[in-house]
Amino acid sequence: MASSEPLIRADHVSRTYDLAGEKVHAVRDITLNIDRGVFIALVGRSGSGKTTLLNLLAGLDSPTEGSVQFEGRDLSTFNENDMVELRRHRLGFVFQSFGLLPLLSAYENVELPLRISGVGAGERSRRTKEVLEIVGLLRRSSHRPYELSGGEQQRVAIARAIAMRPSLILADEPTGELDSTNAQSIFGLFQQMVHDEGMSIVATTHDQTLLDMADEVHKMHDGKIESTWTAATEIDPDNPNAIFMPPVSAKSAG
Ligand SMILES: Nc1ncnc2c1ncn2[C@@H]1O[C@H](COP(=O)(O)OP(=O)(O)OP(=O)(O)O)[C@@H](O)[C@H]1O
Ligand SMILES: [Mg+2]
Repeated sequence: MASSEPLIRADHVSRTYDLAGEKVHAVRDITLNIDRGVFIALVGRSGSGKTTLLNLLAGLDSPTEGSVQFEGRDLSTFNENDMVELRRHRLGFVFQSFGLLPLLSAYENVELPLRISGVGAGERSRRTKEVLEIVGLLRRSSHRPYELSGGEQQRVAIARAIAMRPSLILADEPTGELDSTNAQSIFGLFQQMVHDEGMSIVATTHDQTLLDMADEVHKMHDGKIESTWTAATEIDPDNPNAIFMPPVSAKSAG
């Protein structure tokens, strides 16, 4: 397979909702390539379309216009088996609302997808403990979600996603419930997964202080990507927000 092909590509993707006869343009004409081994942060104020875009990239929602291609294959041509395969082995999702099963312990929540995808008992237990250790929750293994804080539940959800070693993790506000130290360590973990395992990660965040940890930052506004910053773009440390003005295309002229 040509390695120049992006892992996943959104091609002029739009998603419009029909709400009581009124159209909501959640995502408008976004084109975005996600290469292998990159850590992308998606920022933008509430309602700008971040979750909608992640859902489209994951195939959890379908675009009203445009297409999403995974390794060059249009997601709309995937049958149910292809989708199951994609979600089991290639793509991990960390939901804004965590999506943990309330009756299972932290350990069981992490282990379940490995069990479903047929990972053997020894390997399963090794990987489950390893990722719980990585997110600092090994000692909380037997706790159920309601016995954990919001931040701890979030870390269980992240552990569950990385345990599968997917090619791509889509994480919606993975640090939303965390204090800045824990948020830094989750983004640090993402950097490590990207650089050591060659994983790609797209994470939405409201936290400006985390942005310099990503290889690329895309700022959404009103359903569009308003500006893009890559690791090559210079940041003014006194004014990190300035990276979004002007957009990279205008900057590269200077
Ligand atoms: N199922 C839906 N039906 C109708 N409108 C929706 C639906 N889902 C999202 N929207 C609208 O689409 C827009 C984008 O929503 P989205 O959830 O993608 O924003 P977001 O950037 O993730 O916001 P937040 O930072 O608050 O999570 C919003 O105006 C929202 O109200
Ligand atoms: Mg959202």
